[in-house]
Amino acid sequence: MGMDLNGKVAVVTGGSKGIGFSIAQALARAGASVVISGRDAAALAYAQSRLADEVGADRVTAVEADMRAYDAVDGLMTAAVTTYGGLDILINNAGLGIFRNVADMTLDEWQTVIDTNLTGVFYGCHAAIPHLRNRGGGWIVNVSSLAGKNSFVGAAAYCASKAGLNAFSESLMQEVRYDNIRVSYIMPGSVRTGFGGHAEDAGGDWKLDPDDIAEVVVDLIRHPSRSLPSRVEIRPAKPPRK
Ligand SMILES: NC(=O)c1ccc[n+]([C@@H]2O[C@H](COP(=O)([O-])OP(=O)(O)OC[C@H]3O[C@@H](n4cnc5c(N)ncnc54)[C@H](OP(=O)(O)O)[C@@H]3O)[C@@H](O)[C@H]2O)c1
Repeated sequence: MGMDLNGKVAVVTGGSKGIGFSIAQALARAGASVVISGRDAAALAYAQSRLADEVGADRVTAVEADMRAYDAVDGLMTAAVTTYGGLDILINNAGLGIFRNVADMTLDEWQTVIDTNLTGVFYGCHAAIPHLRNRGGGWIVNVSSLAGKNSFVGAAAYCASKAGLNAFSESLMQEVRYDNIRVSYIMPGSVRTGFGGHAEDAGGDWKLDPDDIAEVVVDLIRHPSRSLPSRVEIRPAKPPRK
C-alpha cells in the first residue's frame, strides 16, 4: 500500500550519520535517489559508499554543506536538481546539541545551536520550496525533538531551538499546503546515536533505534494525501524507571 518512491529525489541533511543516515537508507531502499549532506567529508564519503553498495552508486550523492551557510545550503538543493532532475523530498535532520547552563554558555555556542537547528532549517526550506513547487508538490520533514516541548536544565539553547523549529514547522505547514507540499515534524525521545558526543552503543538498549525514526519518515511520505499527520511524537516504549 502507499506511494512508490521510485523516481523520487530526496535531500537528507546530516545524512552522513545517526538518524539522517538511517532515513537516507530507508528512502533509498524504498526506491528514491538520495542526496546526503554534512560537514565532515570522511564521514560523508563512508556513508555514501555504504549506501551505494546497497542501492547502486547512481542513486546516492554526497554534498559537503554546512547548514549555517546559506550559499552552501542553496548549492545542496541545486546539486539534487542538476543530478537527478528535480527535488521531491527534503528531510531537515542535521542538528546538534551543546548542553550547558545559560550563564556558562559562550555566545558562539548559543549561536551554533540556533544557527544549525533553527536557521539551518529555514535555509533548507527557503532554498528547496521553489524546486518542490516546480515538481507540483513534495514533502518536508523536520527532525525536531521531545526537548522542543519538555525543557530541561542545561539545555536552554537546544530546547529553544527545537521549540522554535516546532513553531516554524506548524506555520510552514499551513503556508505551503495548497502547493501540495506536506510539512511534518518528528519529535523523538532518546535515540541511540553519537549525538551530543555519546558513544553510539553506550548503554542504551532501551533507546529508540535510528531506524525507528526512518520508518516514521517513510510512513509520512506514503501516507494518503487526504490527511496530514503534521506532528509525530515518538519515544522509547520502556525507558528506565525513575
Ligand atoms: N539522538 C537523539 O537522542 C535525538 C533525539 C531527538 C532528536 N534528535 C535530533 O535528530 C537529528 C539527528 O541527530 P543524531 O542523533 O542523528 O546525531 P548525529 O549522529 O550527531 O548526526 C548529526 C548529523 O547532523 C550533521 N550536522 C551537524 N551540524 C551540521 C551543520 N552545521 N551542517 C551540516 N550538517 C550538520 C552531522 O554531520 P557533520 O557533523 O559531519 O556536519 C551528522 O550527519 C538532530 O536534529 C537531533 O537534534 C536526536
